[in-house]
Order: sequence, then structure tokens, then C-alpha cells
Amino acid sequence: MKIGNIEFGERPLFLAPMEDVTDIGFRMLCKRFGASMVYTEFVSAEALVRDIKSTVRKLTISDEERPVGIQIYGRDVDAMVEAAKIVEQAGPDVIDLNFGCPVKKVAGKGAGAGMLQNIPKLLEITEKVVKAVKLPVTVKTRLGWNHEQLIITTLAEQLQDCGIQALTIHGRTRSQMYTGDADWTLIGEVKKNPRIHIPIIGNGDIKSLDDADRAFYQYGVDAVMIGRATFGQPWIFSHQELTLDEKIDILEEQLRINIERCDTEEMRSKGKSADLCGILHTRRHLAASPVFKGIPNFRETRIKMLRAEKADELIQILEDCRQILR
Ligand SMILES: Cc1cc2nc3c(=O)[nH]c(=O)nc-3n(C[C@H](O)[C@H](O)[C@H](O)COP(=O)(O)O)c2cc1C
Repeated sequence: MKIGNIEFGERPLFLAPMEDVTDIGFRMLCKRFGASMVYTEFVSAEALVRDIKSTVRKLTISDEERPVGIQIYGRDVDAMVEAAKIVEQAGPDVIDLNFGCPVKKVAGKGAGAGMLQNIPKLLEITEKVVKAVKLPVTVKTRLGWNHEQLIITTLAEQLQDCGIQALTIHGRTRSQMYTGDADWTLIGEVKKNPRIHIPIIGNGDIKSLDDADRAFYQYGVDAVMIGRATFGQPWIFSHQELTLDEKIDILEEQLRINIERCDTEEMRSKGKSADLCGILHTRRHLAASPVFKGIPNFRETRIKMLRAEKADELIQILEDCRQILR
């Protein structure tokens, strides 16, 4: 399957864009273990246009993680177009538009999934962004605002007509947020629609490579995107069986990468150490990692992991886990 000129081969697996999760360190690890495409967390178009430094930093990508998509969100047509041009300068392989974020601070203001209540504007943004940049533009969205408005079948055609080069569909409505089960039936219908020729990327509740295989088989999607199941296990994309030691080594490496990559100058100005900044990027993964499932009373260890503020302290907790699990 192809997006623009990027060739992905058969049945590729993509890492979902996730706020506070898909930072550069994690993306590089997922890539190493076989993710065919990775995305940045969503980036606010308005903050980019206003040149907010912490937002601009989210555009940092590395050649090691290519192909990589930078995702933007916003509710203003001009800001989205302007932001897409800024993003293009950062040199990603794809620019992705987020019309799926359900959280109140985004959707409640008409951005993200909020756009599903204003389709003319959603299409205007898409069309104008496609015209404004040379890079392939893709969209990620949901089935509709709620179950009374399952508009994805028509919307997919309209988006394709705007010139997007791939569409990711999360099989939930905005009203569902992250509850209930993802419904892949409509994703499959979009894929089967003879008018649709752009790649369809299916997303929602994929927890293993077997789940991904089933999704390819049952719904015929061109790629499968994995979100939450990647937390604390960037190796989920790999067919290779890793040992416990290898897995813990990878998590420790993730911590080291994040500490190295932290902008110490920025952290010092906030009175935080690079250790703490790296830890903040990593601990959510550690606390959620299936590696530690076997630890008796893991809750206590988890709390310690979430409270650690020094790298040595956190590494020691991981080493203690290693001993217990061996
Ligand atoms: C913590 C978190 C942050 C997320 N941030 C984004 C985001 O920035 N952009 C986006 O398109 N989706 C975001 N999502 C949604 C995921 O990309 C994905 O669509 C959703 O989690 C369903 O896939 P999954 O069941 O494999 O997790 C986020 C999800 C989570 C759990």
C-alpha cells in the first residue's frame, strides 16, 4: 500500500498519534520494532501559528523514524492552513489532520471530533490544506459525532474528493470517547466502497498482532493503527519473541533516550532537571507496561514508579522488578 510516493508493503502496522505518549524517543523505538509509520502527538495549529515554543518543539523529528506524520488540529481555517505550511518546513513525510479528538477542551471548542458537527468547515480546512502544501495530507477521524450521526461513509468520499491521500478511521463515535468496543463494521464498509481508492487505515482496540491480522482479514483495510496497546511495549509491532531481560533493557533505554533528548535549558528555566523531564516522558509507559503484570502487589511498585524523580531511583525500581520476575 502507498501514501503518496511512500511504499509501505503489504499489511503495515502504524503507531497511532497520542498526546504525551508518542514523543520522539517512543516513536524511534516503535520504528525499530517494526512500526511502518509513526505519528507525532497532535499539535495545536493556533499555538504553532503563535510560535509557542513548547508546541514548535513537538515538530522535531529524526530521519531514523521515517516515514513519520505530523498531526495538527484546530478549528480555524486560516490557522490550519498556516500551521500546515509551518509543519511542511519541519519536513515530515505526511501531514495528518485530526478530526477525531473527543476531549472537551478540543472537541467542545469545535476542533478535533468537534469538526464532525461542522462538515462544511471540516471539508473547507481539508481542501485548503491540501492545496497549500506539497506533502501528502491525510485525515484521522471517527465514525461520526454519535450513533444518530454515523456519517463516515459519506464523509470518506467527501474527504477523498478534497484530495487527501489516506484516511484513518477510529471505530468509535465522539460520544463514545474511549468506552465500549470499537465497531469495525463501518470501517470495512468504507473500505469496500468501490468509489474509495485512497488507503483506509483501521484503528480501535487492536491489542496484538493476531488482532491486527483479523482486522486485515475481516475488514480488508490497507493498514492497521495501534494506539493504547503500545504503552510500555514498543515491541508490540515485532514478530520476534523477546525475553524479559530484553524487554526491561528496552524500557531502560527508553528512559535514557528521553533524558538525553530533554531540552535541559528549557527544564532548567522551569527549575526541573533533565532526569525529571525524561522520567515524565517515560513513566506512563512503565506504569502501563505488561512486563510488570507478574509483580505481586504491583500497585505499590507502580506508585513508586510514578513518584520517582531521579533516573537512578527509577532504574533501581526496574532492576528490582527484573529480580522479582526472573
Ligand atoms: C493518551 C491518548 C492520547 C491520544 N492522543 C491522540 C492524538 O494526539 N491524536 C489522535 O489522532 N488521536 C489520539 N488518541 C487516539 C488514538 O490515536 C487512537 O485513535 C485511540 O486510542 C484508539 O486506538 P486504540 O484502541 O488502539 O488505542 C489518543 C489516545 C490516547 C489513549
